[in-house]
Amino acid sequence: MNMKTNLTYGMVGAALDSFIGSVHRVGAGFDGIAFLAAGCFSRNEEKNRKCGEFYHLDMNRVYKNYEEMAEAEGKREDKIDYVVISAPNNAHYKTAKAFLENGIHVFCEKPLCFEVEEAEELKKLAEEKGLLFLVNYSYSGNVMVKEARELVRQGYIGDIINVNAEYLQEYLVDDIGKGDQIMVKLSSWRKDPEVAGISNCVGDIGTHIENTVAYMTGLRVKRLAAKLDYFGQPLDLNANMLVEFDNGAHGVFCSSQVCVGHMNGLVIRIFGTEGAIEWHEEEPNVLFVTKKGCPMQTYHRGMGYISERAASMSRIPAGHPEGLYEAFANMYKVWNAAVLAKANGTELTESELDFPTIDDGIEGVKFIHAAVESSKKDAAWVEL
Ligand SMILES: NC(=O)c1ccc[n+]([C@@H]2O[C@H](COP(=O)([O-])OP(=O)(O)OC[C@H]3O[C@@H](n4cnc5c(N)ncnc54)[C@H](O)[C@@H]3O)[C@@H](O)[C@H]2O)c1
Repeated sequence: MNMKTNLTYGMVGAALDSFIGSVHRVGAGFDGIAFLAAGCFSRNEEKNRKCGEFYHLDMNRVYKNYEEMAEAEGKREDKIDYVVISAPNNAHYKTAKAFLENGIHVFCEKPLCFEVEEAEELKKLAEEKGLLFLVNYSYSGNVMVKEARELVRQGYIGDIINVNAEYLQEYLVDDIGKGDQIMVKLSSWRKDPEVAGISNCVGDIGTHIENTVAYMTGLRVKRLAAKLDYFGQPLDLNANMLVEFDNGAHGVFCSSQVCVGHMNGLVIRIFGTEGAIEWHEEEPNVLFVTKKGCPMQTYHRGMGYISERAASMSRIPAGHPEGLYEAFANMYKVWNAAVLAKANGTELTESELDFPTIDDGIEGVKFIHAAVESSKKDAAWVEL
């Protein structure tokens, strides 16, 4: 039997003017394995067509809507191997369901969907159909996030006793005092409950904290006590919470879109009985590592002392910065290998399964619901 060596994919969402769509296209194609073959890039006919033309697609495979695309692709002999769902949140559940029903693997943006029941239904469907499902918590694609995970796994910092994590942005600070008017600017859908779901700040960036911490530490949030601030808007713009992990340790997660001076300040600090690890998304090529009793050390991506697993995801020599595009490329490197292994009927290895799955997506949806519920109850503890 000839082994399959490359893949085709389609996209839902991700027109040329979208934020994250082009990052996906660069990431998916980085290693020359996956090629864009179909799409429904926008509900706007002109934007949809322009995107298809820009990528020189067969225009018969540029579809009016996701239903048509899932059905038509599912019937083709050369159907896409997977779909990338990069439309806003309210499209995730129904789109993922349609593609799973038509036998196509799903790579879906976060948050997975609105309701926990929907998330569990998607999991069941993927399992029944024997299909792979990735939920794009993209920061785990960073080499130094992988290095942090390896150090924790090796016991380098001992038992984890505390986590302090923040994701601070300022871009919605002008919304304060604007009543419930939704200011129209890029991605204003994030503040619209119909499109974003029950949360803006926790749903959009708070869930990245939850997942990146889980990836680095292996710990899951068991319960949380949260206070969300709305500043008169329909959805939250700021969230402070205390979390308890399944090993009994506690932590603080702060996410905000109204912190002046911060652009994309995701910072994760993990404290153990023997040491500490700190990673900053705005400085992703380094990891700060402290062994108890010693000064803080700066580990650099690309250097010989980095673990084999993390080093295998590093693409250019140390000192040349890697960033968001490479993190996406790493996510796709693992995913493409998994989809190929599945197509070739080979057993998936641990490294091919090193991506956020639908279980991570389900945890994310539970986390959002718990945070909103806790805040409504004046920061009472809520189990996930
Ligand atoms: N993982 C990450 O780091 C990351 C970063 C940014 C955004 N996201 C997620 O990606 C998704 C998209 O975010 P964005 O900032 O790119 O949004 P955006 O508004 O910039 O782009 C959304 C695109 O989807 C298209 N679209 C909307 N509804 C559609 C539908 N029903 N069918 C087909 N196309 C449709 C729009 O025309 C647009 O091209 C969101 O779920 C968001 O949470 C994830």
